[in-house]
This record gives sequence, C-alpha cells and structure tokens, in this order.
Amino acid sequence: MDKITLKDKRFRIMLPYEQISEAIDKVAEKLNKDFAGSKEPPVLLCVLNGSIMYIAELMKRINFDCHIVSTKLTSYEGTSSTGKVKQALGLTADITGKDVIIVEDIVDTGHTIVALKQILADAGAKTSYVCTLLLKPEAYKQDVKIDYVAMEIPNKFIVGFGLDYDELGRNYKDIYVLDE
Ligand code: IMP
Ligand code: MG
Repeated sequence: MDKITLKDKRFRIMLPYEQISEAIDKVAEKLNKDFAGSKEPPVLLCVLNGSIMYIAELMKRINFDCHIVSTKLTSYEGTSSTGKVKQALGLTADITGKDVIIVEDIVDTGHTIVALKQILADAGAKTSYVCTLLLKPEAYKQDVKIDYVAMEIPNKFIVGFGLDYDELGRNYKDIYVLDE
C-alpha cells in the first residue's frame, strides 16, 4: 500500500519493509560482534509498545545468549512530544549488574532515552546501550550517545513498523510519513 489513512490524517510510504529489514541486518551484525562471548547474557530491553516489531526482527538475527525485559514509557500525544516522560510499566525483571541494550523504535527529542538511562542506572544496571531503529538527528538535542542506529530520518512524523498515531498504525510492516 502506498497510502494509508489513520483517523483524520493521511500518510504516504517512506521506507518499505525490505529497506528496514536490510538496515536491521546491519545492526544485528554489529551487536553479534560486540556482544559475542559476553560472560553474562545481556538484556534486550523492549520499550513498549513502539519497539515490539523491531525487537522481534532484531532477536531473530541475534546469536548470543540474551534475556528479554520490558518496560513502558509514554511521552507522545498525537503527533508531538509532550516533553514529559511517564513510566507506565516498571521493569518486568531485575536487571541488577546486567548489561542492558535498550531497544527503541525511534529517538526523537531524546527525553525518553535520557529518562530510561536514569531508570536503568537507578535499578543497578552495569551498563546500558541505546539501540534504535530510527533517529531524527535534527530533533535530538541530548548528550547521551546513541550506540546503534539502523536508519536516520528527517524530522517528520511517521507511523508503521510498531510506531503509532494515537495508538493506530503500529501493525503496518512499512513505514509511512505524514502526507501534508
Ligand atoms: P523522544 O522522547 O522525543 O525521543 O520520543 C521518543 C518516543 O516518542 C518514541 O519512543 C516513540 O514512541 C515516540 N515518537 C517519536 N517520534 C515519533 C514519530 O514520528 N511517530 C510516532 N511516534 C514517535
Ligand atoms: Mg517508543
């Protein structure tokens, strides 16, 4: 599908699944290199709900022992960030002393990543890394290092592949941009 409508907005295709898939292959290759032979299985942290599709695709390509832990944060309303990050669901397992790979759908303003890094440090993580499917470099204004980025995109509102507009659109396998 080239165009989709969600509620009052129209979106057009921006990144087809094949392109997303190839970008994930490259990230997985790097992770496999960097975490091969880890003494303790690293934790892949699924940041609900946006990351589900990405983490599923990423896991299939990972060949080192790893654990999955989830949490849920919210900051977006409609098509923009409120700047206030709320933890809607705490960490689903103890991560004390673990190396944590934060698996995010997208890093935009970076408020979520900054809050997450703090949450993980407070919870006793040994280290934490950021592994995001998408990064909006024009919007990102934080000092936190983004360790793994599958794709960089312009500062536009997108949906699909786990990302939503008011909870709609997460189910599409391609990524769509707001058609203004
Ligand atoms: P940040 O805190 O501004 O970096 O925003 C991060 C969160 O906002 C992401 O994890 C997404 O859940 C959501 N978000 C940011 N940009 C978009 C977008 O373009 N479409 C849908 N959700 C987005
Ligand atoms: Mg998210």
